[in-house]
This record gives sequence, structure tokens and C-alpha cells, in this order.
Amino acid sequence: MAENRKIVVTSALPYANGDIHLGHLVEYLQTDFWVRFQKMRGNRCVYVCADDTHGTPVMIRARNEGITPEELIARSHAMHMRDFTDFEVAFDSYYTTNSPENRELSERIFAAMEKSGAVTTRTAPQLWCEKCGMFLPDRFVKGVCPKCGAEGQYGDSCDKCGSTYAAEELGSPKCTVCGGTPAVKDSEHIYFELEPFKEYLRKWLPEHTTSDVSNKLLEWFNEPLRGWCISRDAPYFGFEIPGHPGKFFYVWVDAPIGYIASLANWCRKNGERIEDWWPCGGAQSAETPEIYHFIGKDIIRFHCLFWPGMLHVAGFQTPSKVFVHGFLTVNGEKMSKSKGTFINARTYLDHLPATALRYYYAAKLGGNTDDMDLNLSDFVQRVNSDLVGKVTNIASRAAQMLQKKLDGTLAVLAGHDEELALLGKLRDGGASIARHYEDRRFNQAVVEICRLADAANEYFDRKEPWKTVKTDAEATRVTLTAALNAFRILAIYLKPILPAYADRAMKLFGETAWTWDSRDTTVEGIALGTYEYLASRIDAKQVEAMVAAATEKPAESGEVAHESRASKNKAKKGGAAECEGAPVPPLKPEVAFADFEKLDLRVGKVLSCETVPKSSKLLKFELDAGSLGKRTIFSGIRGTYAEPSELVGKEVLFVANLAPRKMSVGVSEGMILYAGEPGKNGGVLEPLDGVPAGTPAT
Ligand code: 2FM
Ligand code: ZN
Repeated sequence: MAENRKIVVTSALPYANGDIHLGHLVEYLQTDFWVRFQKMRGNRCVYVCADDTHGTPVMIRARNEGITPEELIARSHAMHMRDFTDFEVAFDSYYTTNSPENRELSERIFAAMEKSGAVTTRTAPQLWCEKCGMFLPDRFVKGVCPKCGAEGQYGDSCDKCGSTYAAEELGSPKCTVCGGTPAVKDSEHIYFELEPFKEYLRKWLPEHTTSDVSNKLLEWFNEPLRGWCISRDAPYFGFEIPGHPGKFFYVWVDAPIGYIASLANWCRKNGERIEDWWPCGGAQSAETPEIYHFIGKDIIRFHCLFWPGMLHVAGFQTPSKVFVHGFLTVNGEKMSKSKGTFINARTYLDHLPATALRYYYAAKLGGNTDDMDLNLSDFVQRVNSDLVGKVTNIASRAAQMLQKKLDGTLAVLAGHDEELALLGKLRDGGASIARHYEDRRFNQAVVEICRLADAANEYFDRKEPWKTVKTDAEATRVTLTAALNAFRILAIYLKPILPAYADRAMKLFGETAWTWDSRDTTVEGIALGTYEYLASRIDAKQVEAMVAAATEKPAESGEVAHESRASKNKAKKGGAAECEGAPVPPLKPEVAFADFEKLDLRVGKVLSCETVPKSSKLLKFELDAGSLGKRTIFSGIRGTYAEPSELVGKEVLFVANLAPRKMSVGVSEGMILYAGEPGKNGGVLEPLDGVPAGTPAT
């Protein structure tokens, strides 16, 4: 049943200054399930995304790392792509908001907004940090909540009492970058006024979102809608606003425009016209594409008010629907770094297969705004009992018996009514499963697939082929052929969720491209391919190891920061050839000699060196630092020294006047110098000749 829809799908653009984590994946995985389903149905569906590269956090992080924002965003792009690829998320275009297409589109849309009369300018007070030389975004200032007096609150809202306010209202504000006290300074800003097309939005909202989302936003419609400030002052990493020197588009202006820019880039590479995929200025026709955004509930107002507003005034097609999902909780709680439940995509992949998480998320996602819980023991149990125990088991038992005992040849099922009825039942289930996919009730799709797997298992167990194979080879061949075809239908239904798994299953049947309609054919009378592993059981120990790895806090120490880099490169351990090609980090900004002189480097003799319980990265050193006494130092170099005792008795160089750092495993009193990348290459720096402990190094 080929459909012929033209569909553009987006997931929210991840910020370029952060890693992808399991919370992000709630969105990317469900979008990917939906897109893959649409493609299997024969629709033309293009899945676009990009890195969200602009704004102060990217600028500050690059500055802190001594690299350019462009270098930072290139690095993130590569890391994000690697995570997505390994999680089998298949974008048609994964671009960047720092692109020429995005600049051109942002300027064009802004010009149209200005022309429509919806753009105004006014002067507003803002916090200015003299030392940093910049106006501070709300999240870069902390102080006392003006409503409840709680300390350490950000410049937009209070964690304690929930009130929202302007950053200038905070008591005793402090710049979170330098710790300095900011001053209030006026600056002229550009606003996008929503009030002129309030009635358009009032009608648009309920037609394009679910009622819980639109009702929430419509609460604001009883008052005049406040204008949205769309400019930021230099210094800012972003696009300068034409006609407004020194003013830049606020990152939230060019981020959603990045959806169109990513699509435009895809069109250019695929000989398509952007006007056909995201029309502007024309009447809608049968050829009009459908446009869907998948977003989290924290960014509703950007996608359901400002964005349709911008598109509307600029004459672009607005989204057909905005699909809003909830947040991820782990073991029933907010993800937590200290509990090891704030898990990066890479940390997960270091311990567990992507297939397992894809299956579990699908089994939990119901296409609504409810939060979704990743219960780690339920995760292990469900993957093992359903995906492995119910579905995969049919193939592994039937295929291996057919190969081993019956030369691997499938029977022909014509005339075998019971078997044809079983397959008919599985095929009939497809219509309802497809409806669940279409409506993003992936959990219901999984329930129905498991129910059909139960029917196939019940048939298999009742037929007892392990017994009949001894007495009636041909009847057994029929049983195994029916069971394998039942499995094939289940794997077709699971393909949007488990693409790599489905690819392996396809090979078993000698096929190359399953569509939704492939379920209507029967594979029979031919030799079955070789049975390869499809999915294996997961172990609670893998989950424990992942949580232990996530519990380490890279931010606690510069040394630990080395380690997370090492673990990211884990797959390619050692080897001089690899080191030669490894990227060399860019030179950090120049420092004055006076600053260098502040460092007190000393020789230390290693008295003891041991592993740290529950840490796969850290070594604990006791150093004899001569006249400075003894020092305890934690260093993230365990990956290099499988046998820590080999370091005992050696002399090393260490930074002796580094402020002590409190880590979860104890206080670290210095930093041992290391050349290279721990776990990959290099080692600790040792003075050539025996120099006494405590000797200064220059
Ligand atoms: O909230 C976020 O992570 C944003 N980077 C999402 C941007 S989505 C879109 F508007 F670009
Ligand atoms: Zn500052």
C-alpha cells in the first residue's frame, strides 16, 4: 500500500556546546522511529536537523578552551554525528546553523518581519559585566531571588519559589564567568511584536498542537502579548543584524530558521527545490509538503508562538503539527550526575547496545507530553524477556534447527491451513500497528508486536518441532518455515525501531529492502541464509558499569577531563600510527611570563599508587614532596597504567601550588604532569636524573 506524501520532519537542534545524552535521545529516537516508518510506507520523508551553534555559551566555552567558536562547533558536530550514527539515528541532513544558507534565510525572514511592521526597537536595562566586557545573558548571572530571598538563583527565574523576574531585579548579582559584580546599563534592542497577529495565533495554536499545549499558551492571550527581544549585543557569536551594527540575532531567532537552512542544503545536494519542500509566498496545493517538528515541552513557546509568528509574517508555510514530548527521568527521578543517571550517549554506548535502548524507549513512548521513565532494572528485564526472549528466540530456535537438522531449506506452505492462518493473523495485525506508528504511540505498537510474538511462540511450542524432527522431517520443516515467516513479519514491524536488527534479519531471508508491504510475501522453498546473532541478552552488570562510569564528574578536576577524552577514543587504543594522525589541540592563548611564574612545579617521589574503588579512570598517588611533606593526588591516568605499582619509586613532576580540589573520592592536592592522552598514548613526565623530592622545576 504505497502512500505518496511529502513530509519534512525535524528534531530540535542540539546545542553545539554540549554532549548528547539519554534525555536528548528521547526525542531523536522517537523522531527516527516515525521517519523510518514513513519511509517504509513509501512516503517521501526528509528528516533534517543541525547543530545549534550560536550564542554566549558557545562563545565563552570556546574562549575558555582557547579555541575559536568555529573550532568548537566543528568538533561538536563530529562528536554529535558519531553518537547519532551509533544510535542508528538517520538524518537526511545534519547541518549547522552557522551556515551561509542560514545567514541568508535569517536576513530574509528578518527583512520581511521588519516590512510587516512587527519589529520595534526600545531601550531596556541589562546587566553588564565590565571585566568580561559583555552584557550577561540570564543564565550567566546569579544572585538573590527578589521574591523569596533564596540565594544562588539565575537571572530569569527562581528554583525555590518558581517566580520569574528580570535579571536586574536580582539582589547581589554576580557574573558566573568571572565572579565580578555586574552593573545595570541601558541598551537598545529589537523586538518582534506578537500583538498585531494575536488573532492569527489564537486560531493557529489549537489546530497545530495538542489541547494541553495550546491551552497552556492560550492562557497568555488574556493580556496583551509581550514583544520578544530578538537582538543581542556584541560580543556575541552569531549573525549580525543587517542595518543594526553591533547587534546580533538572538540564537533562538536563527535556530529554527536552521531547520529550513538544513533542508535547503539537502535540496541543493539532491537536485530538489527548497520552494517545493518548504514553500514561501504561494497558495497551498495538493503538492504542499507536511512539516512536523518534534520538540520537548521546555521549548514550546519558541515553536508554537514565535516561530509560527515569524513564518507567518514572512509568508513561509507554518508547521503542520508540533509534536511535544515530556522529559526523561531515570529510576523515577530527574537525571542526576551524582547518582550516575545523567548518562551521555557515548557512556551508554561504551557499555550497552543501541538496539536495547531503542527498543525500551519505543516500548515506553506514547506520543504525549508525559515524562518517560527509564527504569534501569525494568530496562534489562524488558529487553531480555521481550526482544530477546519472545521475538528473537523464534528465529534463533527455528533457524538453527532448520540449518542443523533439515539442511536449511524452507518448505512451501501452500495447503497448510494452520500455518497460513497464523501468518494471516500476523499480517492482519499490521493495520493497527501502522496506526499506532502514525500516531506516535510506539508503546502500543510494541505491545501489539509482542502479542503477535506470543501467538507465534504458542504455535511453535504446541508443534514441538524438537520432538517431531526425530519422526517427521517434512512436517517439522513446515513448522519451522511458518515460525520463521512469523518472525519475519515481526521483524518487518520492528524495523522502524530496530533498523540494524531488521537488516540482520533481512539477510537471513536473502532480502535487501523491506517496506511495510513486504509483510504480505512468504519466503518459502528456498535455502535460508546463515543465522547470525540478532540481539543478545543484556546484563545488569553492564548497567552498573555504565552508572559507575557516569558517576565520575569530569568538571571536578582538570585531570578527569583528560579521561573522558580518553574514554571517547576507547575503541582505538594505543598504536603509534594512530597517534601520528591524531588531531593536535590548538595552541592556548599566550600567557604572560608573570603568570607562568605563578605555577610551582616540583619533583615528587611516588610512595604509593593504587586504583580507586568504583573508578575505571582514577589512580590515587601518595607523593613524597620533600620539604613540602606528603601529597595525595588523584590522576585520571589509570587507562595507561594497568599495573599502578609500576609507578612506585619513580620521580614525577607535579603542580604543587594548585588549589586543593574536592572530588567524590577525596581531596586532590596537586596535578601530576602527563604528556599525551591517558589510556591512549604517553605517560607521566619524569626528571631524567635522580633529583630529590621537592626540587622545583622551571
Ligand atoms: O533547547 C535546545 O536545546 C535548543 N538548542 C533547541 C533549538 S530547536 C530549534 F529551534 F532550532
Ligand atoms: Zn564577568
